[in-house]
Amino acid sequence: MSASLIDGKAFAAGLRQRASDAAARFTVQTGRPVGLAVVLVGDDPASDLYVRSKARACKEAGLHGVEHRLPVQTSQADLCALVEHLNTDPAVDGILVQLPLPPHIDEAAVLAVVSPEKDVDGFHVVNAGRLATGASGFVPCTPLGCLMLLKDRLGPLAGLDAVVVGRSNIVGKPMAQLLLAEHCTVTVAHSRTGDLAAVLRRADIVVVAIGRPQAIPGDWLKPGATVIDVGINRLQPDAEGRNRLVGDVDFASAVAVAGAITPVPGGVGPMTIAVLLCNTLQAAHQRANLPLPNLA
Ligand code: GUN
Repeated sequence: MSASLIDGKAFAAGLRQRASDAAARFTVQTGRPVGLAVVLVGDDPASDLYVRSKARACKEAGLHGVEHRLPVQTSQADLCALVEHLNTDPAVDGILVQLPLPPHIDEAAVLAVVSPEKDVDGFHVVNAGRLATGASGFVPCTPLGCLMLLKDRLGPLAGLDAVVVGRSNIVGKPMAQLLLAEHCTVTVAHSRTGDLAAVLRRADIVVVAIGRPQAIPGDWLKPGATVIDVGINRLQPDAEGRNRLVGDVDFASAVAVAGAITPVPGGVGPMTIAVLLCNTLQAAHQRANLPLPNLA
């Protein structure tokens, strides 16, 4: 068997188009563009690339994206002061503080300062709590993108066995909450899980977000499983000097066993930014007391 590919790039392009149409309508209705502030501290190359991609996507969709780039030695107090300023800026609908922050800054303390109503990353404890209790709020972009791909592929997920590998606040934990809300039977596996292969072999749905290249081989999967690979890992250069991007799943062996699988690149990656645009539109409409556009 050879799995069908889940084309996140195409799905994300549709979402971005609908976000762009909704952003144009918002500007006509309110006389101002939807605003997203992106804050980057330091010059980590991967974060820099993410922030530039987010700013470009905003521009293409007709949102007003403002980048705030702060030097690596910025104090926690100065960073919090900027976030507080953005909280009260009427032109800013969404605030995103790019993670990771430098080690001298307490990430949780900074995320706690972001207004929950502008928290388009869904990282504030209020939004994490809303997700955990079934209230509406902002949902972290990557897991929400994964859920959209799963529902598009499988339809209703009720009753399916889902295994989430990884327990980060950004992906693993919110992913598990989302699948639980869809009535899946959810297992969260992680680095201390004893027999991961045995856990995975029961799973109809597998979502992997551990940041370890090609760590999950195909023979750990249940035949026909739907596999969502969140990992984006750059390998050391090969003999021809190419340093390929690979996921957390060993694609070559998994594709022979799974029913459907996201490729890397072109799977989950493009969904994160597309969902960020959707979350920012949600924030803008809520702040302007307008009905939410249907983007999904
Ligand atoms: N770092 C890695 N992923 C993310 C994300 O989705 N949002 C933010 N703010 N930082 C990240």
